Amino acid sequence: MTINKDIPRAGVMGWPIEHSKSPRLHGYWLAKYNLPGSYTHIPSPPDSFEADMRALATKGWRGANVTIPHKENALALADTASPAAKAIGAANTLIVGENGQIHADNTDGFGFIENLKDRAKDKWNPTAPAFILGAGGAARGVIHALLTAGAPEIRIANRTRERAETLADVFGPKVKVIDWNDRSAALAGTGLIVNTTSLGMSGQPPLDLAFDDADPSAVATDIVYTPLITPFLTAAAAKNLTTVDGLGMLLHQARPGFEAWFGKASEVDEVLRQKVLAP
Ligand code: ATR
Repeated sequence: MTINKDIPRAGVMGWPIEHSKSPRLHGYWLAKYNLPGSYTHIPSPPDSFEADMRALATKGWRGANVTIPHKENALALADTASPAAKAIGAANTLIVGENGQIHADNTDGFGFIENLKDRAKDKWNPTAPAFILGAGGAARGVIHALLTAGAPEIRIANRTRERAETLADVFGPKVKVIDWNDRSAALAGTGLIVNTTSLGMSGQPPLDLAFDDADPSAVATDIVYTPLITPFLTAAAAKNLTTVDGLGMLLHQARPGFEAWFGKASEVDEVLRQKVLAP
């Protein structure tokens, strides 16, 4: 079979990877904008990830999204990296340059911020203190994005306190560690409340958080999007907070890669949301 190298090719690398919704997303945009190109699942086990990515670059692929368990290795293998990828310590987007060099970016924070701008327009105040639950890889992207957007203070509570302290060491004195048991009371005075833990995801227990002390003008957002409306968002809505589900973060984080690989800026619309939500 001959392969037309002029047709831009990209995909999503992970292990396992078949569950990833990214091909639906990029496929929707390729069709919507009537562009030549392909975007596919690329299964890549940990022991061959670097070789797999280098081989794609050699074969003329434009790049790839990278997901679990390769995000740290994606940054390590890259020839150059964006400030976001360096600050977060992981990459989710690899772009192959004309010279075959691989550039690493991390667009999770971009997706997080664009989702808030999109769904909590006029409600989210980027310069109000923020509260983050969780201290894993997702929290890193969110902290970096919020600091870049102008947050004066970020409170962070995590079941394992040391992980939150590590993030305070990495990101500096605007990040304040709150004890996990004090999480509900520490919501007072914050304008944004973010769940970055896996709690509330289908099959997981809900995140137990009382919103009694939260400011009613605050925005609550979850990075979990299965289910779309988590118990955390339901509890926040019951206290009249503005709520933003996590699906938009997934959709918006894909935009910079799409533009780099296929040469066209893309938009998130309701049809795309429904396509990605479909079983
Ligand atoms: P990711 O990179 O997606 O953020 P992760 O590094 O596994 O994933 O982090 C998962 C987050 O959910 C962590 O903050 C984790 O808390 P710990 O650091 O204490 O493990 C949090 N989490 C998972 N299960 C939890 C539970 N039952 N109670 C409280 N927090 C939980």
